[in-house]
Amino acid sequence: MTSYPKIASYRSAAALRTRLRNLGLDLDLDDEILPAQSSPLAQPLNLPSPIAGRTSLGNRFAALPMEGWDGTKDGKPSDLTTRRWRHFGMSGAKLIWGGEAVAVRHDGRANPNQLLINEANMSALEELMREVINQHQAAFGNVDNLLVGVQLTHSGRYAKPNDQFKSEPIIAYHHPYLDRRLGLPSDYPLISDIQLDELVRDFVRAASRAQKIGFHFVDIKHCHGYLGHELLSAYSRPGRYGGSFENRTRFLCEVVRGIRRDAPGLGIGVRFSAFDTRPYRKGPGGTGEPEPGEGAYTFAFGSDGQSGLDIDLAEPIHFLSLLRELDVRLVCITGGSPYYNPHIQRPAMFPPSDGYQPPEDPLASVARQIKVTSLLKQRFPDLVIVGSGYSYLQEFITQVAQYQVRAGHVDLIGLGRMMLCYPNLPADVLDGKGMDRKRLCRTFSDCTTAPRKGLVSGCYPLDGFYGQRPEAIQLKRLKKESL
Ligand SMILES: Cc1cc2nc3c(=O)[nH]c(=O)nc-3n(C[C@H](O)[C@H](O)[C@H](O)COP(=O)(O)O)c2cc1C
Ligand code: SF4
Repeated sequence: MTSYPKIASYRSAAALRTRLRNLGLDLDLDDEILPAQSSPLAQPLNLPSPIAGRTSLGNRFAALPMEGWDGTKDGKPSDLTTRRWRHFGMSGAKLIWGGEAVAVRHDGRANPNQLLINEANMSALEELMREVINQHQAAFGNVDNLLVGVQLTHSGRYAKPNDQFKSEPIIAYHHPYLDRRLGLPSDYPLISDIQLDELVRDFVRAASRAQKIGFHFVDIKHCHGYLGHELLSAYSRPGRYGGSFENRTRFLCEVVRGIRRDAPGLGIGVRFSAFDTRPYRKGPGGTGEPEPGEGAYTFAFGSDGQSGLDIDLAEPIHFLSLLRELDVRLVCITGGSPYYNPHIQRPAMFPPSDGYQPPEDPLASVARQIKVTSLLKQRFPDLVIVGSGYSYLQEFITQVAQYQVRAGHVDLIGLGRMMLCYPNLPADVLDGKGMDRKRLCRTFSDCTTAPRKGLVSGCYPLDGFYGQRPEAIQLKRLKKESL
């Protein structure tokens, strides 16, 4: 098993820079964390057009959507959900990108504890949204340049609406590797075009509810292997939602048109996996390796269509042109899927229980997301672009973030796992307090392993609140058993 130097072992920005150069990575960083007066991260960002009366965002931090597997069976937030969203509000980030994945209907829930946006849950979701706003107001004295959205999802192939351990996949097309992993027979039915038309209406209805609840925008989720993302790679699907680019993006276009019609004035964003690879599996020594296979790999949006390992941004660029045509200006870039290539999406030193040892220095995985984001930002300077995958940078996260924003490679720095262990990192950095090293995410992946084992997510190693819960003991035992 190959091991890589830990981030904490780099004593300075120069040492990290040398490592990045030696790895051949096109990633740079500032030498120091800057005070707010001169930090690019403290600069407001003008929005291309007003959203919910806001014309700008107060700084360059965004809280990425982070699900907790901790809603009630009927899809309402629990105290744990509320605690996490409260943290988003007090983090100091001025863009709360979606909170977490919220299913538009029951069969699209990724687990029986995923939030559900239906009529019965509206007042509970409103309280959740209020919590973010109130916390932000209390901590920072105003909410004028804060945007809070909700991420709308259907989990498609990864739906488990009724039982944490029972898949009930809804698939857009047959995938040779992913079908096999789920044990799906070759005649397993595809979601029909008529069912997709119905799902468009469900997304639009959900967006109207989101607007009534008070959310400033909705994210029409197109990432991480869930249904919206799967449709983007439905090259082999027959009918109106498959084959051509126009057909594969029909779902998105119809949802956007429906929202404009039924919820005018609601902001719209799209989080999408801008690149993908063939699925990875555990290879020798537990290290990740791509699934071997004969012939061209034609199942990945944003990949070369041959090896399935090289990025080709032609279609993602086409996708962003389409978003611009649709006047959707808020975009969050991510990659791949936590189910079949987690290392490209949430770079980590320690894999989750269903993952594999990193096949490359996780710095390379971070640099890839940042590079793709920067290439897309350069092509689309008029879109508001949020980047992801920074948490692995730990001690150097702020210095990389400053550099990237100043260089115009990205507009906002999205924080995912860091929001679980150290939500107020943005506030600390912008206050000039610097970062509390003891609270930095060390990419132990317990927040992913716990839900894979049927437990609520949370930062068990670093957040004492979770460390003291009974699930922490269960998690330790389950991890030991699976060694
Ligand atoms: C526990 C956990 C929950 C997540 N939930 C969501 C989610 O609900 N929606 C989503 O789009 N991404 C989700 N993600 C992905 C993150 O938003 C983010 O893309 C990823 O963690 C990489 O960013 P980071 O390096 O800052 O963690 C989740 C990740 C983790 C670890
Ligand atoms: S459990 Fe905590 S330290 Fe580990 S990856 Fe998640 S947020 Fe980071």
